[in-house]
Amino acid sequence: MGKRIGVMTGGGDCPGLNAVIRGVVFAARARGWEVLGVEDATSGLVDLEYRSPHGNRWLTCDDVERILTRGGTILGSSNKSDPFKFVTIRDGERVETDVSDRVMENFRRLGLEALVSIGGDGSMRIAQRLCDKGMPIVGVPKTIDQDLACTDYTFGHHTAVQTATDAIDKLQDTAESHDRVMLVEVMGRDAGWIALHSAIAGGAHVCLLPEIPYRLEPIVRRVQERQARGYPFSIIVVAEGARPVAGEQSTAGPRELGAMVKLQGAAQRLAAELQPRLGLDVRTTVLGHLQRGGSPTQFDRILGSRFGVRAVELIEEGRFGHMVALKTPEIVSVPIADAVSRPNLVDPESQLVKAARACGVEFGE
Ligand code: F6P
Repeated sequence: MGKRIGVMTGGGDCPGLNAVIRGVVFAARARGWEVLGVEDATSGLVDLEYRSPHGNRWLTCDDVERILTRGGTILGSSNKSDPFKFVTIRDGERVETDVSDRVMENFRRLGLEALVSIGGDGSMRIAQRLCDKGMPIVGVPKTIDQDLACTDYTFGHHTAVQTATDAIDKLQDTAESHDRVMLVEVMGRDAGWIALHSAIAGGAHVCLLPEIPYRLEPIVRRVQERQARGYPFSIIVVAEGARPVAGEQSTAGPRELGAMVKLQGAAQRLAAELQPRLGLDVRTTVLGHLQRGGSPTQFDRILGSRFGVRAVELIEEGRFGHMVALKTPEIVSVPIADAVSRPNLVDPESQLVKAARACGVEFGE
């Protein structure tokens, strides 16, 4: 008898999720195993009657045959389905409740022997807690932010950087035509990898990261010195999690139940400060969820496919509580506990940041 395994996608979606699902299904079906696609992260295990348009369903090779190039996830995802603080209604009130025992029970009722959890740091933390309760889980690191440790790359990041770089290229054209200062806000809550990589790739002049709180003076100086050299236009890349020295991140208000606090307004806030100081036209573009969608780049298709196949091998080897990871050029496995023990942040003293500085990128220090 072949195994019965589940696969689910958690947290914010990103390009390459379908490539991983396809890799898992192909590798598992080749072994004669059955694969249950669990809908909307753990929501499909909290309530077996729960039905979203995605729906828990047994996946065949035909189901995944043509999904490699598609963004999003055929299983649906959610960043509000943490079973340890699941939002339920009690006495007419929305409250966070621990429903993890129910998830464990439903996992057993479905006859599953292992679960592939594809997600970022939040999903890996949940996976670790479910592992501690006895669920055999293998993790796959996903996130456009690239903030998960122990892997050279998470899939999704490469595509997001390409999207941001394409946007910067276009904004350079119009900035130059109109002598404008263009602020481009990219995603990156605690880690500024998208901002840093796209700033280098797009030849930006200023780059603001969550890891390096900024001051206005060096930014103003950089723009003015360009102006004096005959370049009255500049591109400033701002990570959504960037904050001024002695200031806070810009948010859209208090955290909703079961969710993370929403970041909003980092570039807008900076534009309002810069405009009167520069006397140039300052405009803002927020890329937002554009970075999460679209067809994955070849890098993310290959990485996602390799991660999916390797995750099935880890199940075969019984390496539960482990996450697949890229240690170039190999796909290895690392304990999930190690991956979530610290975030993968940009080191301001790294070679990469030094190279960016040498290429004229100002970090507002
Ligand atoms: O973690 C990835 C991410 O894209 C963050 O950069 C961003 O802050 C967050 O997801 C946005 O999530 P949501 O779509 O739920 O607002």
